Amino acid sequence: MLGGGILIQKVKGTRDLLPPESRVWVAAERLAYEVFGGFGYEEIRLPLLEPTELFVRSVGEATDIVGKEMYTFADRKGRSLTLRPEGTAGVARAFIENGMAQRPNPLRLLYMGPMFRYEKMQRGRYRQFAQIGIELLGATTPEADAEVILALHTYLARLGFSDLLIQLNNLGDFDDRARFIQVLKEELEAHRGDLCPDCQRRWVSNPLRILDCKVPRCRELVADTTPVAEVVGDEARAHVDRVEEVLDRLGVAVRRAPRLVRGIDYYVRTVYEVVAPELGDDTVICGGGRYDRLIADLGGPEVPGTGFAIGEDRLVEVLPEAFRSRVLARRPVAVLPLGPGTAAPALAVVRDLAVCGIVCQTEVTGRSLKAGLKWAAKIGAAAAVIAGEREIAEGRVVVRDLDRGEQTEVAVGDLATHLGALLEDR
Ligand code: HAM
Repeated sequence: MLGGGILIQKVKGTRDLLPPESRVWVAAERLAYEVFGGFGYEEIRLPLLEPTELFVRSVGEATDIVGKEMYTFADRKGRSLTLRPEGTAGVARAFIENGMAQRPNPLRLLYMGPMFRYEKMQRGRYRQFAQIGIELLGATTPEADAEVILALHTYLARLGFSDLLIQLNNLGDFDDRARFIQVLKEELEAHRGDLCPDCQRRWVSNPLRILDCKVPRCRELVADTTPVAEVVGDEARAHVDRVEEVLDRLGVAVRRAPRLVRGIDYYVRTVYEVVAPELGDDTVICGGGRYDRLIADLGGPEVPGTGFAIGEDRLVEVLPEAFRSRVLARRPVAVLPLGPGTAAPALAVVRDLAVCGIVCQTEVTGRSLKAGLKWAAKIGAAAAVIAGEREIAEGRVVVRDLDRGEQTEVAVGDLATHLGALLEDR
């Protein structure tokens, strides 16, 4: 039995999402289904739990995610499981396991939902956070990258963003990467001792991550090195140039970020991030890129991929005010049955209004008319539908405009139209 004592609180780094704020999330998700759905992306729903090995082999053993951020535990039979820290690895696993290479290619997939990373808490950084992502599997062309970025741009524009920056870089192919790491190490060798302790470790385990270090001294040292984009081979160079060219013709502005690297190992060639200027350069609301070897490296067929994931928590934090207020402005209609005989007819009214898309809340706690009207004002209702015994018997109700204080009798059959008009200008 639960006794008194200390109240149980949520786990650090998780959040409770309450109404009406949850409405903003739902609206952003619905729009994602609509926009990405329009580009032909269909939802794939995958487990939150995966074998740990999946992330070690895809995200990369030496990454921060795998090295120190995963929620990994042994289940009751001793199997090592991990709460997914990202979505692409699961998509690749499911693609292989379900033989999806047999389907007409390319395949366009969409996913959204919670991800888990044990990170230091700060604004916009949570331990459970949500992503909205799309993946295009089965196309090596730069046009595929351009499509995915265009879909992203279209979605962000529909949310009302106009000042977001898409930063694009070329990580080259795996051979280029090896060459780049050699160049980087040669250039930094003389200053190796000046790097922070983390970067000393990265020097051995994952030198690319040195480019991403936030320690000022490391940043200074890195600023003088040759950017990765200058080291890449001709094919990779032509690929990303073409991505940029196609986007340019579509009016999608991207800015080259020659030092941008991503925190995951599977990328080749095209990589990008979207930053919201008001949150500063470090707050990335979306990251993505091309991963041509991932599926093959996991034991599947040679199927390339490209995609991105938006951090929904961060997206919602910087959403344009117009989108938020449009979503939050929605006001309900309060339905007030008066007397026991009116309860069922009042619920029938609610059903008929609800299917017409009018949001209602019915008084079901037995309040008087006066108390019911007070309650209606408290929940922000624009109107109250008062269902009195006599009116209901005659197929009518009273509609009270709660902003203007005016009352009219309306036939039940006309109610949806009447309320639709009333709500229009609120
Ligand atoms: P990522 O850059 O690791 O990429 O994450 C994508 C986005 O998730 C980030 O830009 C950020 O907005 C959000 N995010 C990451 N960690 C947190 C956190 N702790 N709290 C809040 N938001 C966070 C990926 O996950 C790749 N799977 C993206 C991708 C898809 N690449 C190709 N396809």
